[in-house]
Parts: sequence; C-alpha cells; structure tokens
Amino acid sequence: MNIKYFVKTVEKKKDHLSIKWNDNFKSKFHFLWLRDNCPTAIHPTANMRVFNILTVSKRIFPKKYTIENNKLNIDWSEGKHSSKFDLKWLRDHCYTEINREKYSSPYVLWNGKLKNNFNKIKLDHDKIINNDKYLKKWLELLHSYGFAIVKNSPIKRKSCFKILNRISHHRETFFGTPFEVVNIPKPNNTAYTAQALRNHTDLPYFEYAPGYQFLHCLINDATGGKSSVVDGFAVANHLMKKELEAFKILTSTHVKFKDTDYTQKAIRILHSPIITLTKDNDFNDIRFSMAAMGAIDINPKKMKEFYDAYQLFASLLHNNKFKINFRLNAGDIFCFNNRRVLHGRTEFDPNSGNRHLQGYYVERDEIIARLNYFNNIKV
Ligand code: OGA
Ligand code: ZN
Repeated sequence: MNIKYFVKTVEKKKDHLSIKWNDNFKSKFHFLWLRDNCPTAIHPTANMRVFNILTVSKRIFPKKYTIENNKLNIDWSEGKHSSKFDLKWLRDHCYTEINREKYSSPYVLWNGKLKNNFNKIKLDHDKIINNDKYLKKWLELLHSYGFAIVKNSPIKRKSCFKILNRISHHRETFFGTPFEVVNIPKPNNTAYTAQALRNHTDLPYFEYAPGYQFLHCLINDATGGKSSVVDGFAVANHLMKKELEAFKILTSTHVKFKDTDYTQKAIRILHSPIITLTKDNDFNDIRFSMAAMGAIDINPKKMKEFYDAYQLFASLLHNNKFKINFRLNAGDIFCFNNRRVLHGRTEFDPNSGNRHLQGYYVERDEIIARLNYFNNIKV
C-alpha cells in the first residue's frame, strides 16, 4: 500500500484529531464528522446513513484513540460507542486535502475548427450496443465535448430506445417520446414546420431543462434542412474573456422563457439567466432560444444593456468561428448536451422529399452517473 496511507502521529486538538501521515501531509478530522462517518453509521446494503446526528451533542469527543492494524479506533465520550476507521478510507476522504485541490473542468471547449476533426465525435451504433468500453467512450464524449454523432443506426421508428437504454431511462415531456420532428399542418412548435430554426437549446422554460437530446434521423431526402451545432460554453467563455460586461449581464439577468402552445392546457413560465455557473465558477448551463423567449420584463433601466449583451451573444452563437454546419443522414443520431450545446437547422423544401427525425431526452445525471460507475468513482 502507498505510504500515504500510514500514520505517523495522531494528536487531539480542541475540536478535531490532527493526523500526520507518512508522506508528512497533515489532515484535520473534526469530532462530529468522525462520529457521523463511523462505519456502523452506514447501512451495509443500502449504503445509506442510518446514524441520526441528533443523537449526539456538539460536545462529543474521543475519550480514547489508538492506531492499530491500519485502523483508527475511537471510544466516544457519548453513547458508549466505539468506532473503527480504515486508515485508507480516512485518507481518501480527507477534506483538508480535497479542499486544496484545484478544480479541473471536465469540459473540452470547441469551436468551428472541430469540423476538421469530425471523425473524433463519430461513433458506431452497434459497437455501443455490444461493447461496454465503447459505450463508455460515447459517454465520455458526451460529457467532455457535449456532442457526438452515432452512425449506422437502424432507421426503424422508435429504434433509438435500444441504444438509449444502454445509458438509462429517458426524460418524458409533454411532447411525448419520441417526439416527431416532421412538417405538420397547424404545428404546435416551430420545430414541426419546414422553417429554419436558429441555434437554440430545447425547453428553456423548464426549471430543469432536459440534459441531453438525441435526434435520430430516419429520413432526410428534402432539399435544405442542414443542421448546425455550437458549443454554448465555448461562446460563453469567449464572452467571459473578451466581453466581461456582457458576460456579467447574461449571468445575472433573469429573463423570461415561456411555452404557451395551443395543444397544452398549461402555461409554462420561467425566469432565469441565459448563462448560469456552478459553485466552482464553471459553466452550468445555457438557456437560449429566440423562439421560446417571453416578452422580457426586466427593469427599464437595464433593458438597453441587456439587449446589447443578448444580441452580441446571439451573433457569436451564429458565427462561423464557433458553429459547425453539417448534414444529418438517415441512420445518424445527433446527440448533444442540451444545457450546453445549441442546435439549429436551415429551412427545407417539404415538396422536394421527406424529412423525419425522432427526438428523445435523457437527463445529464444519467450520463454522469453511468460514467462514474464505469470509472469506479469512490464516494
Ligand atoms: C427540435 C429541433 C432540429 C431539426 O426538434 O428541437 O431543433 O433538425 N430540430 O429539425
Ligand atoms: Zn430543438
């Protein structure tokens, strides 16, 4: 075992044990934290905490502590309880160390140049179905690039369920699953016309917009109807570096998104910034859809500067420096992180041939959780 898992000294301080390890790293383990994480606190099969934090006081302390056989043993001042901690577990969960680590983003930002390397994001349908390692490769691409195209899939209706079930269940919405992207009379969504769709994220009016989208192309014989894709995080990053004022406005102004289509007995409204960040100041999500934007109702004092920032972001999201144009062919599944990557299409001529995509959503949680499983992440 690595020397870092062996202990040199343990000292009791006012509210924590200070452990010096063999690699001279010093960890703090607070008394309540130790008691809360006693191995007996965890259900053996459910792997959930059964210990109730209300059963001890904040004055609890180790009456006695020893190191023996790679374990830290503690007799507690309360509850006639003893704990035995595996030293490796303690070091692996050392929050002194974890909090010193610099955050590293899982995202690989990309721009229009990715088109020169398009094979990088293309995968084969049957290999994903048959091989776990290859499935993991797909999940890694989805997580890091937020974009992949699965080639050679069957073109039978609803056949995309099979490959999605390699990940998990899908996210249901009022559009149904799959949703049918075809030109129909009296459409309840502009996606169901032959018109161009500017780059957008789907369903930005949901508090929790669908994490991933899968557009399965069954037929694309019409003229026009070319697809576009752009990394919203890369464009947001550009704003942060070069247009800080606009970036601040788009991360702090709550604008209105809405859905009021005539087939729904529901009115959906959500106020959210267009760009949101995580606790580590990484990108969390992008909500952008000119089509699903409500009449903005921010303070009049802020309207002009908001529109300046919004228009700048919109123009970059449609700039060839960032976006990629490509054509979906029958048997392609266009997969992307719908809370990061925007998609669009050019107008098509419905009299020139057929065009039919079937759409599915899967939560971002499912992609990441499956990837964690394949990577055997310890929690
Ligand atoms: C959609 C959509 C794109 C296309 O259905 O959400 O954006 O290529 N479709 O038809
Ligand atoms: Zn869409």
